[in-house]
Amino acid sequence: MNKDLTLNIPVMDAMHDEFETLLLALQNSSQSEFMTLFQEMIEHTAEHFKTEENIMNAHNFYDKKEHFDEHANLLGEMKYFYEKAKKHPMFGKSYINDYAYEKFRRHIVNIDSQLAMFLKEKNLEK
Ligand SMILES: [Fe+2]
Ligand SMILES: [Fe+2]
Repeated sequence: MNKDLTLNIPVMDAMHDEFETLLLALQNSSQSEFMTLFQEMIEHTAEHFKTEENIMNAHNFYDKKEHFDEHANLLGEMKYFYEKAKKHPMFGKSYINDYAYEKFRRHIVNIDSQLAMFLKEKNLEK
């Protein structure tokens, strides 16, 4: 993974690495694999977000409302483009090729980083 995105919280870094791998596979996929891999990326993201939300609930993270809302937006958007892509493949392609990585990067830099800092301050990075 891009070094700038490493948070030094192993459970989060592992999920972010997996996301990058899935996104790269999707960007390089053939037409016939595209929807299957897109679906996999949605399932992985739902799992990734749920894991972070469980951590936030367990430790009563002060800013969890904002973080949960941001997860709901990102996942909702991903599902929206998946549905669009069923009829109009170009919508899905342009989301995956031009947009998804930047959304993901910004979430890590602006939002996940705050959670990582909170966990480190409490010595909960595991
Ligand atoms: Fe994350
Ligand atoms: Fe997150």
